[in-house]
Order: sequence, then structure tokens, then C-alpha cells
Amino acid sequence: MPNITFIQNNGLEQTVTAENDLSLMVAAVDNHIDGIPAICNGCCSCGTCLVDIDDDYLTITSTKYFGEQQVLDKLKNTNANSRLACQVIVSDKLDGMKVKISN
Ligand code: FES
Repeated sequence: MPNITFIQNNGLEQTVTAENDLSLMVAAVDNHIDGIPAICNGCCSCGTCLVDIDDDYLTITSTKYFGEQQVLDKLKNTNANSRLACQVIVSDKLDGMKVKISN
């Protein structure tokens, strides 16, 4: 199981051990990470699980599908590294990844 570090807007870093094959959002919620309310519970509709993925891991994360991009397009504080944490599937390849919380 990979270790993933969540970074708050104030710079606070919290590293969690995430469970493979579940989403990054679930890893955050299960580990009580602030800033990811995940209001739609992973249905890819609320955008409250917005994160920025580390450059080094951007191409390793699961592919962004059309529905995720539609939600991202409606949000204001996005950039090229933005993903919805509920749409990123955890795997051992993500070990060491840093994720900035964007909400
Ligand atoms: S939890 Fe709602 S879009 Fe990810």
C-alpha cells in the first residue's frame, strides 16, 4: 500500500497509507484529512475533492475521463495538475506522491 502526502493550503503535510484500488478521496476521508469534504461521496459531481497532483505522478495516475473534465471545467481554481480525488485510483505506483488540497 502506498504512502501519499496531502498538503493543506497552510503548508501542513499529512502522510497516510492508502489502500490500493480505492480512490484518493477515500484515502483522504478515511484518514480524516481536512479540506476534502467530498459532498457527492465520489459520484464525480460536486468538485469538493479537488486536488493538485505532483508533476512527477501526473502521468502515472489513472486517466481523466470526460465526466471528470466536465466537472473540472466548472471549477475556478483549477490548473494543469488538477484532478478530482474521487477519480484517482490508488496503486503502489503512487507511493511517495504529494497532493495539494485545492479547496
Ligand atoms: S467527491 Fe464529489 S466530485 Fe469527487
